[in-house]
Amino acid sequence: MTVFDTIVHLVYLACATMFVLGLHLMNAPSTARRGNRLSAAGMLVAIGATAAVLIENGQLTPMAVVVLTAGTAAGATAGMVAARRIRMTAMPQLVSLFNAVGGGAAALIALGDRATGVPAAVTGALDVIIGGITFSGSLIASGKLAGRIPGRPIVTPGGRAGAALLAAAAVGLAVFAGPERAPVALAGVAACALAVGVLVTLPIGGADMPVVISLLNACTGTAVAMAGFVLGSTPLIIAGALVGAAGAILTKLMADAMNRPVRAIISGGYGSGDAATAASIPGTADVRRVSAEDAAIQLAYATRVVIVPGYGLAAAQAQHEVVALTKVLIAHGVEVSYGIHPVAGRMPGHMNVLLAEADAPYDQLKDLDEINPVLPATDVALVVGANDVTNPAARRPGNAISGMPILDVDKARSVIVIKRSLGHGYAGIDNELYHDPRTAMLFADAKAGLTALLAAVQTYAR
Ligand code: TAP
Repeated sequence: MTVFDTIVHLVYLACATMFVLGLHLMNAPSTARRGNRLSAAGMLVAIGATAAVLIENGQLTPMAVVVLTAGTAAGATAGMVAARRIRMTAMPQLVSLFNAVGGGAAALIALGDRATGVPAAVTGALDVIIGGITFSGSLIASGKLAGRIPGRPIVTPGGRAGAALLAAAAVGLAVFAGPERAPVALAGVAACALAVGVLVTLPIGGADMPVVISLLNACTGTAVAMAGFVLGSTPLIIAGALVGAAGAILTKLMADAMNRPVRAIISGGYGSGDAATAASIPGTADVRRVSAEDAAIQLAYATRVVIVPGYGLAAAQAQHEVVALTKVLIAHGVEVSYGIHPVAGRMPGHMNVLLAEADAPYDQLKDLDEINPVLPATDVALVVGANDVTNPAARRPGNAISGMPILDVDKARSVIVIKRSLGHGYAGIDNELYHDPRTAMLFADAKAGLTALLAAVQTYAR
């Protein structure tokens, strides 16, 4: 090994350390930005070191420089613009699109190598299979979350059997193609993998989509690691393995939070997406309404209040109003905390990020296990734009959210719910909490409702 090789390997080792430290810093919201920057810097150094290797080996032709520079500039610009412009609520579909790009790029590496006469090893075939499934599956997932494809499970007759057959065909073709046969055989493997991605993702319903996106993220990482083997690139193998492992762990954590085995999620059929049918929503006869003024009296004279934020808070961008209300209540001597459900909103950590944006102190944010024991001794549970994560139907079998742990707001002494109607949440089912005699509904947009509540509380809190 030359001195140059040794230096390059040491630089790669430093990059890998930066990736790991960056991931570690992402554990806490206060250090997450630093972690992101550190990991990105590690990747930048790795790209620089790889360019140095190409120059040293005489592989960097003028054409390669033009293609690499143009590709990097176009990709980086598109990524930066998309990341800056995206609304927080649309983040899952962007992540899914990025997964598609990662999986597709990894598969193209193996296909490109084979097309130029490089023998494809087992890792090359795996790269094409996993990358192809990830590419088409992620595009479908992104389309579902963005509303371009219906979010409900789309079950096609024979779809599952077809996916299993095509997956077997992809593996069979890859074995038949071997490392040396015509590149067209590997293209056949890619076509089968693309079809499997579509058939597997279509029958998965809205409420399960975040878990699927996390799983596809793990697949992207695995495909990238395989591409690293194809290219003999150590940083790509390490980065891919880290993404694969992180995605797999997140998938398991999220599936556990919804109390649903990953296997059952992949086999599909659950969850109906956002398309709630107004006709199936029961009447309001037994629903108790409350005005902002009456709700304010309840809050101002409470000893303990737990605020439960949900997707509606994010949709209304009412995080500043809810934090302002909390401050006034605390100044008035009320003990206030937030009950954060792990899948509230539309992406992991959605509520934490939203509340952090409005400078809510981290110690006021309590997770499910911490807040549920407190709820029976809570005077008012104020539910803002949350629905499924509070639905007692989850304790019964036979519905789309059965078995999902919920925030036990129905055990609080009283409940005030701010939302615009009795409309469904993501899982598309009725919430019996709204018909509970202890629950009062403040029908309003979250921002308008909280503003009215804040104004009224301020008059009592003086
Ligand atoms: P949901 O159950 O989706 O309910 C949100 C509620 O917000 C709706 O019922 C809606 O009722 C209300 N809403 C919408 N816009 C509003 C506004 N401007 N002002 C006030 N309310 C508004 O939300 P959740 O309780 O947070 O549960 C999350 C669900 O999404 C779960 O089923 C979860 O599995 C799924 N999911 C989670 C993620 C992750 S990782 N967090 C990703 C995708 C899906 P109205 O129309 O009556 O106002």
